[in-house]
Amino acid sequence: MSLTYFREDGALCVESLPLETIAGQYGTPCWVYSRAALEAAYREFEQACAGRETLICYAVKANSNLAILNLFARLGAGFDIVSGGELARVLAAGGAAHKIVFSGVGKTETEMRAALAAGILCFNVESEPELERLSRVADDIGLTAPVSIRVNPDIDAKTHPYIATGLSENKFGVGYEEALPLYRKALRLPRVRVVGIDVHIGSQITAIEPFLAALDRVLEFADVLDATGIRLEHLDLGGGLGIRYRDEEAPAVSDYLARLFSALGERRVKILFEPGRALVGNAGMLLTRIEYLKRGPVKNFAVVDAAMNDLLRPALYRAWHDIVPVRRRTVERVDWDVVGPVCESADFLGLERPLAVEQGDLLALLSAGAYGMSMSSNYNSRPRPAEVIVDGAAVHLVRPRESVESLFASERFLP
Ligand code: LLP
Repeated sequence: MSLTYFREDGALCVESLPLETIAGQYGTPCWVYSRAALEAAYREFEQACAGRETLICYAVKANSNLAILNLFARLGAGFDIVSGGELARVLAAGGAAHKIVFSGVGKTETEMRAALAAGILCFNVESEPELERLSRVADDIGLTAPVSIRVNPDIDAKTHPYIATGLSENKFGVGYEEALPLYRKALRLPRVRVVGIDVHIGSQITAIEPFLAALDRVLEFADVLDATGIRLEHLDLGGGLGIRYRDEEAPAVSDYLARLFSALGERRVKILFEPGRALVGNAGMLLTRIEYLKRGPVKNFAVVDAAMNDLLRPALYRAWHDIVPVRRRTVERVDWDVVGPVCESADFLGLERPLAVEQGDLLALLSAGAYGMSMSSNYNSRPRPAEVIVDGAAVHLVRPRESVESLFASERFLP
């Protein structure tokens, strides 16, 4: 459990607020984030970057709530976006356009136009046709597009296959053989300005070696570019640093960055990072209530009011989230499959968890700040939960619970 959670009189609290109070005020399920944890995570990156020219571009996809984006913007963060929607969110949250990098393999013309008009820092280009389109769109509107090429270093990040991105078989970036001709081509395009190189090898990576191996390949390539007269303003080393969900030994941010900086040696080029999970993952949880305890001949089910539509990670990746009863009970500890009400057998949040609980109890699903709400859906016509941020003894509602009516308000009958 991270430092921001603790027990007082047997009841679980976030910062200094009991989760029971939050459930009473906002109902369940409810996403609960800690401002102190969000800020501490950002400061950890910032402090480890001291003395280097860097920009920490928060990967918006991890959690795109406006209050969180605004908090990071106020701390000076840049942003890594992957869609026009995320661009609009960052701008609405007060994020600086000149600190935005735009990643993703499928940027549309409309998205390119919007990002060019906003004046973003860099497009991380992932293919030749994308470069051609970007050049054409920039030409159309008379603006110049700052560009990095995303290279695929063909490195095994040793993470879940669904979130590995740095292997040749993945759809991301271009191989080294293609990259040099692509840079040459970019240099010839009048409305394109080459500014950097970009790499991102995957997510929830719990060893430093794959990052170092990717950096090695990037530096080697940067030297090749340098020798051909292509000078880069920045290296974007992507995100991907893992966190502890269960018993993983995720590297400390300071170690991870120290190792990268030491590999960079005397090179004084600006370094960009795109952390998502490491900034928000352990700063959030999903609070849920047990609706029914259903005992069976083979399995026991704790049916809760949150489901796979709220937190998809267990169903999609068999991901583990610690499940902690908010109040300690003296009842017998039993193995429960913690499941939601959605009509899918994959609708579980945790399997065979030994828990001492009673019907009606609150459970906290920990480490759910990243890729929780941002991957949620309205499947089974379930309104999405409220999101709140605890700040000391105060709690702020940063997104109210959706109403059922709002889910179908824009739908129409046939004439
Ligand atoms: N930069 C790029 C280009 C990315 O694609 C990603 C994540 C990041 C940065 C941030 O990675 P992070 O620091 O958060 O690992 N839904 C999955 C994770 C998908 C990650 C997608 N890309 C999950 O719930 O584990």
